[in-house]
Amino acid sequence: MNKLRIAIVGCGRISICYEDAFKKLSDQAELVYAIDKDLEKAQRFAATFHCRYSDNFDTILDKGIDVVHLCLPHYLHPVMAVKAMKAGIHVLTEKPIAISLQDADEMIRVQKETGRKLGVIFQTRYTNSVEQLKKMYQEGVFGRVSSARSILTWHRPQDYYVNSDWKGSWDKEGGGVLIDQAIHSIDRVRYLLGCDAEWIDGSIHNYYHDFIHVEDSANAAIQFENGCIYNLYACNLYGADSPITIEFIGEKGRFGLIQDMGFYELEDSYHEIRNTYEEITVGPSYWGSSHHIQLKDFYDSILYDQPVKTDGLEGRKTLELIKGIYLSSATGKRIYLPFEDVNYRDLNQIG
Ligand SMILES: NC(=O)c1ccc[n+]([C@@H]2O[C@H](COP(=O)([O-])OP(=O)(O)OC[C@H]3O[C@@H](n4cnc5c(N)ncnc54)[C@H](O)[C@@H]3O)[C@@H](O)[C@H]2O)c1
Repeated sequence: MNKLRIAIVGCGRISICYEDAFKKLSDQAELVYAIDKDLEKAQRFAATFHCRYSDNFDTILDKGIDVVHLCLPHYLHPVMAVKAMKAGIHVLTEKPIAISLQDADEMIRVQKETGRKLGVIFQTRYTNSVEQLKKMYQEGVFGRVSSARSILTWHRPQDYYVNSDWKGSWDKEGGGVLIDQAIHSIDRVRYLLGCDAEWIDGSIHNYYHDFIHVEDSANAAIQFENGCIYNLYACNLYGADSPITIEFIGEKGRFGLIQDMGFYELEDSYHEIRNTYEEITVGPSYWGSSHHIQLKDFYDSILYDQPVKTDGLEGRKTLELIKGIYLSSATGKRIYLPFEDVNYRDLNQIG
């Protein structure tokens, strides 16, 4: 079997997870290009793999690349994904798929038109604990789920924002704690429930980070089609990155996640589901260490012509929940799906 020819675009903070994954998947894929507008970063990443590097994304469009990984400021994901797919390259982009639903729709349209694969990274879905809980829920072990919650209280100091030319802005990051940090919890709740939302009611605030425009806190209620009401709270003004908690209340028991560890409680018995990699993460522990599992799933989808598990539509659905909270907050109204996305800045609420 020929190895897939891979390129990475964006060799910033998250690229350490890709370095680890490329090493683990070297029998399937070979990194042939590292791109970053900061040439030194591209060069450093390329040195580990003895591959070529450039500061210009367009360089890779005619080099016989099979897959490009996009690890870029959020607003660039659609721009580069569309260019790559039109050049015949499969795209696995970091979350979020885009910062507007219109851009996400265009990516999905081009994916269909070109027949390329499009995937969105949500690595925290790719754990033994999530898969086991999903299977148990689908088998009816917990009965009907009436409510869910997720709580994320993390710490993002001034340095995190001032050392970045895109974080903290509506036009480049597309939001704050919701679209950047809480997106993984929101995605896991949606994935575990396995159904779509009906309405979204929420509000966002900037209580503490007066040097940025986007929200540092958010709360919301989201009603799903199966009747489950999901409560979420997220902030990045806390003093530490405390473990994320996700919990579901079913007729027959409670289940959820503390960071990546699964748990469930049935009658009097309490159980934990641990993941073998939990102690060996390559970045901060809250990133987990499952990028390589999702990358393998994506490579397999190409090599064996299988559907992509977390495809563009999945990425769009999670983005839609976040954009619904922004719109609800800006208008003071409950938002019913589907809705037309707007540029939050235009609603003139924060910043
Ligand atoms: N899955 C996760 O858990 C996780 C964690 C952290 C970050 N991320 C995601 O990864 C992506 C990147 O985040 P980060 O924290 O690594 O950001 P970063 O700012 O550290 O890295 C972005 C890189 O992109 C480069 N870049 C910017 N514009 C470019 C262009 N036009 N052409 C080539 N390179 C360009 C920058 O020079 C920088 O090195 C974001 O989508 C973010 O949400 C995901």
